[in-house]
Parts: sequence; C-alpha cells; structure tokens
Amino acid sequence: MSSGMKLPMKKGFGATDRVDAWWKGPTAMAAYLGIMIAYSTWRGFMEADFWIFSDFGLSAGVGHGNGTMAIENNHSHVLSPLFSPLIIPGENSWVPSQFQWMSPAMFILIFPAGFRGTCYYYRKAYYRAFMQQPTGCAVSKPWDEYSGETGLLLIQNLHRYFMYAALAYLPILSYDVWLSMNFHHGNASALGISVGTLILALNVILLGGYALGCHAFRHLVGGASNDWTSTPMNRFKYKLWKFSTILNEHHKDWALYSLFWVMFADFYVYACTDPMFGWSDVILWGGL
Ligand code: FES
Repeated sequence: MSSGMKLPMKKGFGATDRVDAWWKGPTAMAAYLGIMIAYSTWRGFMEADFWIFSDFGLSAGVGHGNGTMAIENNHSHVLSPLFSPLIIPGENSWVPSQFQWMSPAMFILIFPAGFRGTCYYYRKAYYRAFMQQPTGCAVSKPWDEYSGETGLLLIQNLHRYFMYAALAYLPILSYDVWLSMNFHHGNASALGISVGTLILALNVILLGGYALGCHAFRHLVGGASNDWTSTPMNRFKYKLWKFSTILNEHHKDWALYSLFWVMFADFYVYACTDPMFGWSDVILWGGL
C-alpha cells in the first residue's frame, strides 16, 4: 500500500516558509474560546452548591440560586440564556440526589455545548487553536501522525442529534423573551420592553441564524432530494434549503457572534442582579 508523498517542509513546531502572520488567527481563536469557556464555567459553578463559592459567601444552596440567574426586581422575568430552561436540580425530586448540587446551567448546557463542540466550523477552529492539528497550512506541527476523527472523536458524529436539541432551544428562548415583556405586580399586569428584552431577542436571532444555517440542518431540509418542484411540500423544502444556505454561507460569523452574545446576555443579567455592579434593567416602553 502506498504511503503517499510528503511535500518538503521545515521541521519543528511552528517552522514554516510562510511569511504572513499565520499564527494570529489561531492565537486569537484560542484566546476567544478560552475566555468564553472560562466565563461560562465560572457562571455555572457560581449558581451551584459548590464549596468554593460557599467559602466566598456566594453558595447558591441547593435549589435557591445565587439570585443572579434572572432580573426580577422590575416585576418582569429576564432570565439569562445560560440558565434557560430554568430546571433547578435541587427542586426536582426526579433528579438523583448526587446531582442536586448542580446549577441549572450545568444541568442543561450539555446540549448547547455539545452542539457547538461538534459543529463543523468550531471543530476546525479548536483543532487548530488548542490541538495544533494542524497548526496551520504549510506550518510544521508538534507531532507527525494524523488519525482523523477516530476513537473518542467519533462523538463528533452526534452533531445531528445535538442540532435537534439546539432547535428545541429556539422556542424556549423565544418564550423567555415573551416572559421578559410580561410585567406583574399584585393584581396588576402590563406589557413592556426593557433593555433586557432587546438583549434576549437579539440572542434568539443570532442563535437562530447559527442553528438554521447548520450544515446538518441544511442537509436535513434539503438532503436526499432531487425534486424541488412537484409538490407544495417539495417547494417549501426548497425554500427552506435556500434560506439555510444563505445563513450557512456566513456560518462562522453566526457561530462567533452568537456565542459572544449568549455570554453578554448572561453578563447583563448578572450585572443587573449583583449590587456590586450597580446596573439596572432600564424599561424602554410600558411596564409597571
Ligand atoms: S455545522 Fe455548525 S452548527 Fe452544525
């Protein structure tokens, strides 16, 4: 069996004949993803019954939360997308006792994290940024072997299933936007829009653009089809596929901006609920 022909290349980690700043992209990506992962992990643990935060006086306590998951002091309910749907393990008897210390974020984030972690775009990004596989085109990497997505990486094949879960988040997060517009106090109720509402709405738009432009979604609506016109359903599928294709052309942008905005939306809720920041959610229209 042929072993293939290797092009001559300089040896040594990062060695290359390239003269452009090839390292800037992967380095910036490593910093960006590293900050996003660190922030979401910190927030997930902050609302858990976890001993480190307990020592700082921040322990959520089982089932009660640290009070930074949702803005409630305007008589509406602006829930951080990191904690939606708000399944509090400590308040649900069907959650085994050994998992009740977890925060809602830790309980549900497996789905969005799995969706992003198995995304075709993110795979390229973090294989380069974190694993040096490859370090860059025509750049020498620390190791020679390449075994493809085998072994543990077979989990990447679950992307389609994570995509189904991600699609389910869109109506859930849209419902959160609706909740943020419903103000209640005693018997009084009114509609309103706050800055938090707009932030949650933009979050749904960005996540929608990301999820509906997913390669697996595009295949789901348009794959295995060579007839786009004979029935209303086929014509509808074609329109959906075209729409998904338009989003897919900028999948990288949707992936990166939507990730930032989820974290920003959570930070906004956090900053509006922790007196340390002194922020409040400004009501722009209506409300009580
Ligand atoms: S390929 Fe990126 S979300 Fe599916």
